[in-house]
Formats: sequence, structure tokens, C-alpha cells
Amino acid sequence: MADSANGQVIFEAKGCVMCHQKDMDTVGPSLRTIAIGYSGKEGTLVAYLKGQGSPIIDPARASVMAPQLVKIRTLFEEEFRDLAEYIVSSADRPVY
Ligand code: HEC
Repeated sequence: MADSANGQVIFEAKGCVMCHQKDMDTVGPSLRTIAIGYSGKEGTLVAYLKGQGSPIIDPARASVMAPQLVKIRTLFEEEFRDLAEYIVSSADRPVY
């Protein structure tokens, strides 16, 4: 079972939070927007994070996101799954 709390630690440590807020689209789409887009497609999200997929949320701005994937290139398989779990679980959180 993927560990979303560890996914959050990675998300913060790698600086993803600079552009991705929980509920509000800023420089990048919010975690909620991404979670809704990848709902039921966690495997597809893991592949995207590994640099093996194509963007589906905002492909027109993919060039901003592409260099960010380099920062997580050395993660372990389990860590990619934790990160994906953290992102998709954002759709379940209540909005404050
Ligand atoms: C400099 C700002 C910036 C940073 C830092 C950033 N992102 Fe993004 N991200 C974006 C933008 C802009 C998009 C929208 C483009 C897109 O969807 O491809 C995006 C899109 C995404 C998507 C959706 C991709 C899709 O299918 O379209 C995911 C998942 C994502 N980011 C994860 C991350 C993770 C994980 C990190 C940290 C390693 C990160 N981002 C760091 C700007 C950023």
C-alpha cells in the first residue's frame, strides 16, 4: 500500500509545493485539479512522474513542468507510488 504521508514529504522536499497548492491553481494546477484528472488512473500518473507518460492536465504548459521531472528521476519505485498516492488522495480532502 502506497504511503501518502511519505509522498507529501517527497513533494515538499523536492520543491513541488512552489508551483502546486492544494486547492488553488497557481503557477501549476492545484493538487485537486491533478487528482481529479488522474482519478482511477494512478498507474498512468506513476508512469508520468517517471517520465514515461504524456501530460493530460495542461499539455500546453508542459514545458514548465518537464524540467521538474528531472528532480525526481532517481526516486525508487515505491517512492513514485507514494508520490502518486499523495497527489490523487488530494481529491478526497475537504476544501477549507
Ligand atoms: C516551476 C513550477 C512547477 C514546479 C516546481 C512543479 N510543477 Fe508540476 N506542473 C507545473 C505546470 C505549469 C503544470 C501544467 C503543465 C502540465 O500539465 O504538463 C504542472 C503539471 C503537473 C502534473 C500534471 C501533469 C499532466 O498530466 O499534465 C503533475 C502530476 C505535476 N505537475 C507534479 C509535480 C511534481 C511531483 C513536482 C515536484 C517534483 C512538480 N510538479 C513541480 C509547474 C510546476
